[in-house]
Amino acid sequence: MSTIFAMALGCGTKNRDEHWLEVFYPDPYLKPDPKLVDVIREEVGYEGGNAALELTHRQVQHLAREWRDAGFEHEASYAVAFQESEQPLVLTILETDAEPASTPEAYLKLHLLSHRLVKPNGVVLSGIFPLLPNVAWTNEGAIDLNELPERQLLARLNGKLLEVNSVDKFPKMTDYVVPAGVRIADTARVRLGAYVGEGTTVMHEGFINFNAGTEGPGMIEGRISAGVFVGKGSDLGGSSSTMGTLSGGGNIVISLGENCLLGANAGTGIPLGDRCTIEAGLYITSGTKVEVLDENGDVADTVKARDLAGQSDLLFRRNSVNGAVQCQTNKSAIALNEELHKHN
Ligand SMILES: CC(C)(COP(=O)(O)OP(=O)(O)OC[C@H]1O[C@@H](n2cnc3c(N)ncnc32)[C@H](O)[C@@H]1OP(=O)(O)O)[C@@H](O)C(=O)NCCC(=O)NCCS
Repeated sequence: MSTIFAMALGCGTKNRDEHWLEVFYPDPYLKPDPKLVDVIREEVGYEGGNAALELTHRQVQHLAREWRDAGFEHEASYAVAFQESEQPLVLTILETDAEPASTPEAYLKLHLLSHRLVKPNGVVLSGIFPLLPNVAWTNEGAIDLNELPERQLLARLNGKLLEVNSVDKFPKMTDYVVPAGVRIADTARVRLGAYVGEGTTVMHEGFINFNAGTEGPGMIEGRISAGVFVGKGSDLGGSSSTMGTLSGGGNIVISLGENCLLGANAGTGIPLGDRCTIEAGLYITSGTKVEVLDENGDVADTVKARDLAGQSDLLFRRNSVNGAVQCQTNKSAIALNEELHKHN
C-alpha cells in the first residue's frame, strides 16, 4: 500500500438533511503507518484515494478489534471510545494532499494545522470555504442555521437558554484541541486551523486565523491573518496587524522572522526577516516609500517597502518631525519577557 498523507477517525454533527456541520478528530495522523490503513481496507471498503467513509458503530467495533490485534493499541483505544457514541462517525483518509472535497476532509486539514502536524501554508486548503457550512456554535454544539430558531424555542420552553457563541464557518480551535504550552486569554479569538506554537501567549486583543500562526514562543496581542506565520521570539504589540491575502487585493504572503516587534497599532504588508521592529502606530504597506538611512542618519536611498521584504535587522519609524517613513539598522532588537513565557 502506498503512503497515505493523513488519516483520522472522527465524530461530528450533521443537520437534519444528513449534511455534515463539523467533525472532531481527537487524534489525527500525518503519514500514518501504512499497516494501519491496510488493516482497515477490507473492513470499511476503502479503495484508495481521498475519502470520508461514514462508519457504522459495528464497523468501528471491528476496527478497534483489528487495530488492537495488529498492535495499534493507541489507535484502537480511540475506536473503542467511538463505538459507544451515538454521534455520526467518519474515517477520513487522504491519500494525497489534494484540494479537500468534503466537509470531513476540510476539517481534517484544519486539525492537522492545529495539532501542529503541518505548518501554515503547508497543506492545500484551496476550495475550502464552500465545504465549511456557516454554523451556529452554541453551548449545545453546532447547529444548522435553519434549525436554530426551533432549537432556541425548545431551549426556552425547557427553561434554558441556548447560547450562540458565534455564527461562522470556523469554530474556535480550543473546542477541538488545546496544543501544549500555550496561553490563550480569549479562546474565541483563535480559529480551528490556527497553528499555535509552544510557548505562545495570545492576549485578549490577539487573533489567529486558520492557516496562520506562530512558531513559538511569542507574545501575540495583534492579529495574525490567514497565511501569516510568525517566527520564534517575536512580539505582536496591542492591536497590531499583519496583512492577509484573503480579501482586499493583497497577494504577498506575509511572515515575520525571529525576534521581531510589531509595535502597538503597527502593521506590516511586507514579510519581515529576523530582528525587525516596526514603530508603534506605523503601518508599512508594500508600496510605502521608505527613506533608507545610513549610520549617520542621513538618507542614503528611497525605496518601496517591498524592496526591503524579508531583510533582517531593520527598524522602521515614521519621522515625527517630517512625516517620512524611514528605515535604519535595528540596533536593539527585542527579547521576549522571560517571566511571561516560562510558565505556559
Ligand atoms: C520604534 C521604537 C522601538 C524606538 O524605540 P527606541 O529604540 O527605544 O528609541 P528611543 O525612543 O530611545 O529613541 C531614540 C532616539 O530617536 C528619537 N525618535 C524615536 N522615535 C522617533 C520618531 N518616530 N521620529 C523621530 N525621532 C524619533 C528619540 O527622540 C531619540 O532621540 P535622541 O537620541 O535625540 O534622544 C519605539 O518607539 C516603539 O515604537 N516601540 C514599540 C513598543 C510597543 O508598541 N510594544 C508593544 C506593546 S503592546
